[in-house]
Amino acid sequence: MDRIRITGGNALRGIIPISGAKNAALPLMIASLLTSDTLTLENVPHLADVEGLMRILGNHGVDIAVNGRRERQENDYSRTIHFTCRTIADTTAPYELVSKMRASFWVIGPLLAREGRARVSLPGGCAIGTRPVDLFLEALTALGADIEIDGGYVNATAPKGGLLGARYRFPKVSVGATHVMMMAATLANGTTVIENAAREPEALDLANCLNAMGAKISGAGTKTITVEGVASLSGARHRVLPDRIETGTYAMAVAMTGGDVTLEGTDAALLETALDTLRQTGAEITATETGLRIVRTGDRIMPVDVVTEPFPGFPTDLQAQFMALMTRSSGVSHITETIFENRFMHVQELARLGARISLSGQMARVEGVSRLKGAPVMATDLRASVSLVIAGLAAEGETVVNRVYHLDRGFERLEEKLTRCGALVERVSE
Ligand code: UD1
Repeated sequence: MDRIRITGGNALRGIIPISGAKNAALPLMIASLLTSDTLTLENVPHLADVEGLMRILGNHGVDIAVNGRRERQENDYSRTIHFTCRTIADTTAPYELVSKMRASFWVIGPLLAREGRARVSLPGGCAIGTRPVDLFLEALTALGADIEIDGGYVNATAPKGGLLGARYRFPKVSVGATHVMMMAATLANGTTVIENAAREPEALDLANCLNAMGAKISGAGTKTITVEGVASLSGARHRVLPDRIETGTYAMAVAMTGGDVTLEGTDAALLETALDTLRQTGAEITATETGLRIVRTGDRIMPVDVVTEPFPGFPTDLQAQFMALMTRSSGVSHITETIFENRFMHVQELARLGARISLSGQMARVEGVSRLKGAPVMATDLRASVSLVIAGLAAEGETVVNRVYHLDRGFERLEEKLTRCGALVERVSE
């Protein structure tokens, strides 16, 4: 199993190209199930989760052609991938495939909308909480689907003439359930109004792509999304938006190690709350024409409190990374996690590096220390694992992060991007 070995202490200086967003690429790829034409996606990141979803889509009958695998240039890693699902070959998404990645459960929406039925295994994914699927099932039921759970599978059936437009209010904001309801409603009879919808940029990106495919969606990016059903969707070409979590992660790495890094191909508007928070810690952040520049020259990292919230609030996917930064602040900060109930598994690993963190329910109290010291640590989930890398970059001596397959799910060429900015990071394969 691969590990990442980091020798800490170097400031980061240089340019980091930001990849296409994993969390946008996954629902966009799934949208290809809605049409018999070709959906072409540009800027698709090369990640284990993307490869895993390609296998799942292949199983449903999607023909996938990867090109744009051009010679890797300085700042260009992205791929263009063509997805064509002439006919749905199989409406079952089996446990062996779905258990590896929660987002693969989302195929239930398009399968149900296009074929009138779907049999999808209950999902797996990161161990960051119970993550039930009740909201998905309620939303699909609102569209007229008949749902039953049997042997670990959800069996969903649409009414005879297809799904029916409906008004539905999510009792809690869910990114995935918003994606699924939006996709399912595109081919429903009549108009669907989704209230308390997720406002994440990835939901807007999905709506833009679906509209390019001929859907009639308005209000995406706000709390109320309206979808007028259409008889069929066509192909389209769409560019995946930049990864705001990768952007925020590298920004936090620079805020922690010090230095001067330009993040290319990203957009400050995707993560304003996180960037404002980083500014309060003492980092200078300026938008450039093609991205962002992060500079930290001073020695002090100011403590700042954060509470994770649905977009546009501070993202839960940056909570672990921000906690890593706060371990070196010059005071005490409080970090409250409101989205997932078990997303503090990085705490005990950060403690191995010398961090002082105490937990009380959903709140972590982080008392900054003047130095961290390298140690072997264990990656527990995707975002937690990158927080250990950030901490390792700022720690004295050597940190070895084990179980890096978590990182490979969501961070494209992490060690290469960091090394090019002067970090001492290497992958050790066994
Ligand atoms: C997506 C992101 C993930 C991010 C999360 C929150 C992808 C691939 N993943 O995950 O990186 O951390 O949004 O921003 O885009 N919930 C229920 N019942 C449901 C569905 C969700 O109770 O049926 C709960 C979850 O347990 C969680 C909360 O709602 O506590 C938010 O989850 P959700 O927004 O659905 O997260 P994902 O879409 O899985």
